Amino acid sequence: ALISMRQLLDHAAEHGYGVPAFNVNNMEQMRAIMEAADRTDSPVIVQGSAGARKYAGAPFLRHLILAAIEEFPHIPVVMHQDHGTSPAICQRSIQLGFSSVMMDGSLMEDGKTPSSYDYNLDVTKTTVAMAHACGVSVEGELGCLGSLETGEAGEEDGVGAEGKLSHDQLLTDPDEAADFVKQTKVDALAIAIGTSHGAYKFSRPPTGDILAIDRIKAIHQRIPDTHLVMHGSSSVPQDWLAVINEFGGEIPETYGVPVEEIVEGIKHGVRKVNIDTDLRLASTGAIRRHLANNKSNFDPRKYFAEATKAMTEICIARYEAFGTAGNA
Ligand code: G3H
Ligand code: 13P
Ligand code: NA
Ligand code: ZN
Repeated sequence: ALISMRQLLDHAAEHGYGVPAFNVNNMEQMRAIMEAADRTDSPVIVQGSAGARKYAGAPFLRHLILAAIEEFPHIPVVMHQDHGTSPAICQRSIQLGFSSVMMDGSLMEDGKTPSSYDYNLDVTKTTVAMAHACGVSVEGELGCLGSLETGEAGEEDGVGAEGKLSHDQLLTDPDEAADFVKQTKVDALAIAIGTSHGAYKFSRPPTGDILAIDRIKAIHQRIPDTHLVMHGSSSVPQDWLAVINEFGGEIPETYGVPVEEIVEGIKHGVRKVNIDTDLRLASTGAIRRHLANNKSNFDPRKYFAEATKAMTEICIARYEAFGTAGNA
C-alpha cells in the first residue's frame, strides 16, 4: 500500500529504527528492493531523482512503483521524489502521485549554486503548504552535502554544489535547524555532516574529523522530534570494488559511510538513509563478472538477473542493519 513518508518515519521514530531510501531508475532495482523488503518484512522508501525521470520517463517511473505496490500489496511503500530543485517540480511529482517530495532549497534551481537561508525558507514553505494540502510529506535540506576533506560536493552529473564549500556550509548548524523546522514545518530534515553523493566520499576510512556523527547528536538534542535524513549514505562496499576491478573496471581507492556509523546515527534521530551508489556498484560488479565468465551469453536477462541478486543482497543487509526488518 502507498503511504506517506510522515506515517512511516513516525513509526520508525517510535520504534527506534531507520529506513533505507533506495533510488530507483529501472525494473531490476525496483524488483531487488521489493524482494528484499518481502524477505525481511520491511517497509519501503523508493525515490526517483530528476535523473531517473530523464532516464525512464515520468510515466514509466510512476508505473514501476505502482507495479511494485500491486505485486507486494502487504508492504507499505513511500513513493518519494528525491532532490526537487523548485516548488514547481515538487508540484508535478505530487500530481504524478508521489506520497512524499524533497524540496532541496540548499541549492538554487540550477542544483549547483548554494542558496541563502531566506531563499531556502521561502521555497520550502511554499512546497510544504502545497504538499500538506494534498496529504503529501516534505523533506527539506539545510546545509550543503560535500566533503570535509576537499570542500567539494563530489558527484559531477547529479545534484551537487559547484565550487568550494566552506566548513560552515558543510555542517548543518543545530540552532538554524531548529528555526528552519519551526518555520517550514517540514516532515523530515536532511542534514550535512560531511557525506557527499557518489562513490568518492572519503580518501581513507572515515574518522570523526571527516564524518561528523557528533553533529547528528547535537542536532538531535536540539530538535528531538524531527526526523533526520542522511544523504550520500552508500557504504561503497570494498568487495564490490574488488569485483569491478578484477573484471575490467577501473575504480580508484575510495571509501563510503560505514554501516556502523549509520547505525550510530539511527540511535540519534536519523530515520531515512539515502542509498543509490551501493546498488550501482553491486549491479555493475555482478554484470562485469557474469559477462567475463560467460563470453558466449547474449541474453540480457541472464546478466540482469545477476545484478538483481547482487542488489537484493545489499538491500537485505541494510534492512537488517538499520532495524527496518520486521516492521512492515
Ligand atoms: O541525488 C543523487 C542520487 O544518487 C541520484 O543520482 O541524479 O544520477 O539519478 P542521479
Ligand atoms: P549515495 O550516492 O551515497 O548512494 O547517496 C544517494 C543519495 O543521497 C540520493 O539522494
Ligand atoms: Na530525498
Ligand atoms: Zn541526496
